[in-house]
Amino acid sequence: MIQATAPGKVYLFGEHAVVYGRPAIACAIDLRTRVRLFSSKREGVHVGRGRAVESVHRLPYLNEAVRLVEEVGGQPISNVKLKITTSIPTGAGLGSSAAVVVATIGALAYGFGLDIPREKIAKMGHEVERRVQGSASPTDTHLSTFGGTYIMPERRRLNPPMCSMVVGDTRKSGSTRALVGMVRELKERYPAVVDGIMDSIAALSLEGRALLEKGEFSELGRLMSINHSLLGALGVSTPELERLVHTVMGAGAYGAKITGAGGGGCIVCLVDEKDSVEVVDAIRRTKARAYPVHPAEDGLRVEG
Ligand code: PMV
Repeated sequence: MIQATAPGKVYLFGEHAVVYGRPAIACAIDLRTRVRLFSSKREGVHVGRGRAVESVHRLPYLNEAVRLVEEVGGQPISNVKLKITTSIPTGAGLGSSAAVVVATIGALAYGFGLDIPREKIAKMGHEVERRVQGSASPTDTHLSTFGGTYIMPERRRLNPPMCSMVVGDTRKSGSTRALVGMVRELKERYPAVVDGIMDSIAALSLEGRALLEKGEFSELGRLMSINHSLLGALGVSTPELERLVHTVMGAGAYGAKITGAGGGGCIVCLVDEKDSVEVVDAIRRTKARAYPVHPAEDGLRVEG
């Protein structure tokens, strides 16, 4: 049996603006997806999640991942079963699809004796997301492959935020594709207004990078809250996300924002260690889910 795991991520700054080439900062987190690979008598590739087992053809991300490994490896992938477990909420801005794609490519490459370098795995993961979603930034698949904290699109590794982070999950999911489309429409209609917002988000990413290097986390949180307000101005927040942001700020967080496309999904906040239990409790009192998370320095891990 071969096992591969890969992490999810949060955006500290810059989602949506990164679609237009502006800088963004994302951090891999210690919520991971695990893919175990077993040989099987059955032809083809089958996938087990919980008790259900189905053909990979029914699962677009995994199906494309298998096809791409076949293309790159030049050999058919068959007679295997993948078992998937995850601690990453799905469709919630935490990079769950990238994690499952990267872990699947890692497990198959190892299992079929293909020597695929990490850079290539990250590229393949991005290609799978593009094929399935139509468009995708390389952020999620890069972070799932390499772990760490990065400024994108230049892919420079930064110091991780060494303070408590808490994710709050509204339990509703937003469609990244629809939200990116909505922002595009707004930008086309009011370019001067939206470009100004994108430029401000870019400035926040650059200030944020300097604060990360200095380890000034309360200031970093303050800038994340400004980024959140700008995401609100772009129209991607929801009453549930606003409620979570107000809740964690009331419980003492340094700052809080949407992570990912918005329209539902999650917020992430930075908080002093001593206040993190209060922040988690406050989120849970609203009936949302809370996940205390830590930066993950490790990306894809494969064990034989
Ligand atoms: O919701 P997620 O984790 O897929 O993040 C989307 C981030 C966007 O900047 C809105 C889109 C992208 O592809 O970068």
